[in-house]
Amino acid sequence: MAIISSRQQSQNPDEPQPKRQKRPRESKKASEQTPSLAPSEVSTENALLQPEAKVDEQGKQEDSIRPHRFSDYIGQKDLKDVLEIAIKAAKSRNEVLDHLLLYGPPGLGKTTMAMILASEMGVGCKITSAPALERPRDIAGLLIGLKPGDVLFIDEIHRLSRMAEEILYPAMEDYRLDITVGKGTTAKTRSIPLVKFTLVGATTRVGALTSPLRDRFGLVQKLRFYEPEELSKIVIRSAQLLNTPINSEGAQEVARRARGTPRIANRLLRRVRDYAEVKECGEITKVVAAEALELFQVDPCGLDWTDRKMLSVIIEQFNGGPVGIETIAAATGEDTQTIEEVYEPYLMQIGYLSRTPRGRTATQAAYKHMGFKQGSSSEQLSLL
Ligand SMILES: Nc1ncnc2c1ncn2[C@@H]1O[C@H](COP(=O)(O)OP(=O)(O)OP(=O)(O)O)[C@@H](O)[C@H]1O
Ligand SMILES: [Mg+2]
Repeated sequence: MAIISSRQQSQNPDEPQPKRQKRPRESKKASEQTPSLAPSEVSTENALLQPEAKVDEQGKQEDSIRPHRFSDYIGQKDLKDVLEIAIKAAKSRNEVLDHLLLYGPPGLGKTTMAMILASEMGVGCKITSAPALERPRDIAGLLIGLKPGDVLFIDEIHRLSRMAEEILYPAMEDYRLDITVGKGTTAKTRSIPLVKFTLVGATTRVGALTSPLRDRFGLVQKLRFYEPEELSKIVIRSAQLLNTPINSEGAQEVARRARGTPRIANRLLRRVRDYAEVKECGEITKVVAAEALELFQVDPCGLDWTDRKMLSVIIEQFNGGPVGIETIAAATGEDTQTIEEVYEPYLMQIGYLSRTPRGRTATQAAYKHMGFKQGSSSEQLSLL
């Protein structure tokens, strides 16, 4: 399977590169395109638990442990069932796979799945990201360069410009590229036939997609957070690929703190591996993993400083809530979008936070985890 990244190709080198900020989702792929970021710019506490943070030394290694076949892609059973059927049907009819939209929080395996699809279909995969398709010719060039059956993967598809979207509509529906030549009254539309291809779009914000674009995907699939047992399997597989001895309790300990996210599980594994090597612990056991992750301030549920700050603000200052998202954002120094896309989904998944029409509330489980009794919110948290 040929994997051709169009990210660099499509970027104008004269354009100023976006500055990397602390954690804005909007600059995620932009920062991914400029891998010159010094590791020192990513604080340990931030980078370890950021599912979207890929620009660190692990980012380069991510590909080495990325599964390449369905059989190595652990978990997401519903998604795999649907796609395996779609692939078999397309293959037996000798047709291309229907366009697919994958959505879900960062680091759950959307890009990985797109590459697996291409590999299982035996076709090429062109990878790009919506912000790299600003000008019509960027997307037109990509479409014209496709080979029959290829997968075109567009990451962050909710960020496509209106013009790029309009070029995609006929391309997706009729495998046709409509180009307008000339201006004003003399403008003419010319159609160029395209080869049949599969568009795979990925997004963390499916609600931000326009409905005409969403409706053109034959398959729309959500990725879910992984269960601890699934993450344990991912950790064991990655440890094997990294030649790192680990026992099953050690893998479970890493998995438990990985926020339901394979990217974080792999990242934590690498930190624990460093620790085990330096301390000459040999095999990674539960105790070794716990010691290492304590050192990196990853709490037993995988909560980081911002998660804990969010919960403590709700509990201490607002008696458990409800609290508006802006207030939480101001208290934690994060933007509301990051809170909504990165922090809240996991806190809700583990039952620590609930969303009500009036704002966010902390649950009883959150009180317990943070060391408060419900109703005694004035107690101070030693961990903050
Ligand atoms: N199901 C899985 N089984 C094993 N490893 C996985 C699985 N899903 C993801 N991974 C690992 O997690 C890493 C991150 O996955 P991937 O890059 O596909 O996430 P993503 O959903 O595209 O994230 P983003 O939204 O930030 O682009 C991969 O390098 C891969 O090693
Ligand atoms: Mg991705």
